[in-house]
Amino acid sequence: MPLLKVEDVFKTYLSSERETKVLHGVSLKLGEGESLSILGGSGVGKSTLLQIIGSLDQPTSGEVYFEGLNLTEKNDTELAKFRNESLGFVFQFHYLLGEFTAQENVAMPMRIAGFSKAESLEEASKLLEKLGLSHRLDYFPSSLSGGEQQRVAIARAIVMKPKLILADEPTGNLDKENSIIIRDTFNQIVDELGVGLIVVTHDRNFAKSFQRSKEMKEGRWSS
Ligand SMILES: Nc1ncnc2c1ncn2[C@@H]1O[C@H](COP(=O)(O)OP(=O)(O)O)[C@@H](O)[C@H]1O
Ligand SMILES: [Mg+2]
Repeated sequence: MPLLKVEDVFKTYLSSERETKVLHGVSLKLGEGESLSILGGSGVGKSTLLQIIGSLDQPTSGEVYFEGLNLTEKNDTELAKFRNESLGFVFQFHYLLGEFTAQENVAMPMRIAGFSKAESLEEASKLLEKLGLSHRLDYFPSSLSGGEQQRVAIARAIVMKPKLILADEPTGNLDKENSIIIRDTFNQIVDELGVGLIVVTHDRNFAKSFQRSKEMKEGRWSS
């Protein structure tokens, strides 16, 4: 059974003035511990697809299965639990909390889930060390470089040991050097932790560095 199966997803946004057809029958399978990049220009529907996979939005039609369970049949409470336990999100902007240190930011999801302060901080410290940031534990986000901030955000996304990471333009805000570091970090966590990864990008070079790559054009796969 694949980790994720997306079946013939359509998405149309409706407003009083107009109808925007965004996804036109997108299907996709991802195995456990597999990495996939989704390449595409602006406005083709990449973020919409990622939001639907992450259960943050509903498809107009079609199904999303995670470990064989149909997400489109779950209620909001079940979906919130599913997201907390099984998914990690990384965005273009790091969304770290400015008044907390790197280590505290990474520990935050564990604290919210009810783990003790000591255990959460210990796990955060181990993860940051694994990602080459042991010298930055006590730094506040504003004192970190863009690449470091994004690595802290990745550590925060994996601290709850999710099965799937969803990353939306994670290098959209970074220079080439830092993009390479982020690419390596993602490949490292896929290899070492066996986590699945779907990463959306408009950077063709970045897209090439994952196990699989698909390209999206106007709400459909083009390859
Ligand atoms: N909430 C929404 N309401 C209406 N249209 C939307 C909404 N979200 C996205 N869209 C439209 O869907 C299209 C695809 O958007 P998006 O998935 O964000 O593309 P991408 O991430 O590939 O740049 C765009 O035309 C966008 O304007
Ligand atoms: Mg987008």
